[in-house]
Amino acid sequence: MNRAKAIAEHALLAEQLAAHDRAYYQADEPTVSDAEYDKLRLRLLALEKEYPHLAKANSPSKRVGAAPLEKFGKVTHAVPMLSLANAFADEDVLEFLGRVRRFLNLSEDASVAVTAEPKIDGLSLSLRYENRKLVQAATRGDGAEGENVTSNVFTVKDVPQTLPASAPDVVEVRGEIYMSNKDFAALNEKQIQAGEKTFANPRNAAAGSLRQLDPTITAARPLRFFAYAWGEAPKLPGATQWDVVQGFKAWGLPVNPLMVLCHSADELLAHYRLIESQRASLDYDIDGVVYKVNDLALQARLGFVSRSPRWAIAHKFSAEQATTVLEAIDIQVGRTGALTPVARLKPVTVGGVVVSNATLHNEDEITRKDVRIGDTVIIQRAGDVIPQIVSVASRGAGSVPYEFPKVCPACGSHAEREEKASGKSDAVRRCTGGLICPAQRVERLKHFASRNAFDIEGLGDKIVEEFYADGLIMSPQDIFTLEQRDGRSLKKLKDREGWGASSVANLFAAITARRMIALDRFIFALGIRHVGETTARVLARSYGSATVLRDQMKLAAASSENDARAELTAIDGIGDVVAEALIQFFDEPHNVDIFDGLLKEVSPQPLAAVAASSPVSGKTVVFTGALERMTREEAKAMAERLGAKVAGSVSKKTDLLVAGPGAGSKLKDAKKFGVEVIDEAAWFVRIGAQ
Ligand code: IVH
Repeated sequence: MNRAKAIAEHALLAEQLAAHDRAYYQADEPTVSDAEYDKLRLRLLALEKEYPHLAKANSPSKRVGAAPLEKFGKVTHAVPMLSLANAFADEDVLEFLGRVRRFLNLSEDASVAVTAEPKIDGLSLSLRYENRKLVQAATRGDGAEGENVTSNVFTVKDVPQTLPASAPDVVEVRGEIYMSNKDFAALNEKQIQAGEKTFANPRNAAAGSLRQLDPTITAARPLRFFAYAWGEAPKLPGATQWDVVQGFKAWGLPVNPLMVLCHSADELLAHYRLIESQRASLDYDIDGVVYKVNDLALQARLGFVSRSPRWAIAHKFSAEQATTVLEAIDIQVGRTGALTPVARLKPVTVGGVVVSNATLHNEDEITRKDVRIGDTVIIQRAGDVIPQIVSVASRGAGSVPYEFPKVCPACGSHAEREEKASGKSDAVRRCTGGLICPAQRVERLKHFASRNAFDIEGLGDKIVEEFYADGLIMSPQDIFTLEQRDGRSLKKLKDREGWGASSVANLFAAITARRMIALDRFIFALGIRHVGETTARVLARSYGSATVLRDQMKLAAASSENDARAELTAIDGIGDVVAEALIQFFDEPHNVDIFDGLLKEVSPQPLAAVAASSPVSGKTVVFTGALERMTREEAKAMAERLGAKVAGSVSKKTDLLVAGPGAGSKLKDAKKFGVEVIDEAAWFVRIGAQ
């Protein structure tokens, strides 16, 4: 090769590598595989070795090597960052208020003060101040653990780096990072000028800007912030939501000017309408209105269910609609065998997003709406909810009624609609193939690796599908033997299309990190029908270990009436349907094989007692009769917060019966089994609340 050719090739390589770097680091969107990238880089280095003058200071070879293993450090949130339940209709808001009142045992017409404020469509952020200095900023992540984006947040003007002397020693302020519509438009304009990728919407632009490895890029992006919540905060500037937010404002944090304090459903809904009417003229995107019970003492009593507070709800704006042509109906098979029809649409923009798929729910829904392939249909999309088909706008020429398949498209097994207890047939048609059905198996694997289950980074749905198709991962256990089997039968992972040494190393590291897993996640990951996260947690608390759960379920399956079965159904929160699903799962030898195989690889960790030192932690408590100071639901939540298990009926395993006036058979049972019985007042004394 002559010198001129080398110079030209070097310049081309440098340009290509720079473009890939930008894609990887700035857009979070790699354009080539790691292997491809390494090849280019090696070629560049070879040229520089031969013609050392090419290795100038700005050569890509001088930049710090490939991607670091972890882009950002992890931050464990001292108080988890939660999400909100959604309300779509006015009735949902009334129901929310009703639930709050019932939980707190307030009369139906009691006034509860509730704040209302816009739901900002950005990213939540937690700011930790120690001795009035900003020391850490973290994204939400999975709620328990987020990314450390402190250096980037230092560049955000809206976020004060110090708080005034009136602020306490430790406080975590939480809120939303967002980009204004004006700044978003200007940024995209700049990106176009520079020949760079544009962002789809302000939210993506904000996310891309915050998650920059190079803080100077974040600094050049105009991010803003609204404070609306808090994490660890031993000394708050008020005893109500309203006062705390005003306190934040006094400390110099930006708070949303559209927040108001309401005292009735009518006031809340009026404010919702007002904000909705201003939505288009606001300079930032919002997707609803958030209502929060104002009194923090009431918030504390209400507590949380699963991942959202009982004291707050997000009232989403109604959906945006569009018309398009239904081109095809595909049937997807879910992890429990449910056949779900998915509409393939001629792509259409709805509320700023291009939509080409929509859900058709189930067979009956298609019949009811008489949706046919070729029809022009009205679709709608609300927030991040999957778009839906609302109705048929006009018939396609020569269209025929859609016939729902009676066999599974993945394995050919019969697909049936179960008979429910009510005698009606279930709306969902299910494949009866169980684990012989490849679709169910692969869906179970996806669920297993998904965020709220094993949360294996790098093992997303697409990769699971590929690995399954190639026989690399056929069951959950295989995930954990992947590394030791790497290259044994097929080519090495790093030589696969789209992979390279560093992405494989990252995947193996992510898998290894999950060999220790919380028991509730482990149970949830199994994908047992009707066992969601809340039920998984209840089971984890009640049985304490994976093997105890398995053995008890096997015992329960042995006959239709036995202690194990009675114990299971006595657990508060486990109804007959869930119990049956669990027993059935463990009665299937193949499932137990998978379960046991998995236990060879991973160690589920018992949940830390909620409050190890509480006088009732680890105890099984039953509440019965009339309670005066708290509702049954509140009593249960309180006991669970204190580490107790709450059961629905008394057995010899019950430790304590809290009996109010009118207690009947449970009181008798308690006497029979020699269970300690106390009244409500004694309960409060026992837990040290009096
Ligand atoms: S309160 C414990 N208030 O919505 C609940 N959240 O779906 C704390 N969000 O992750 C959240 N605007 O990112 C709250 N005014 C607002 C909000 C808001 C936007 C986001 C937040 C949260 C998500 C929940």
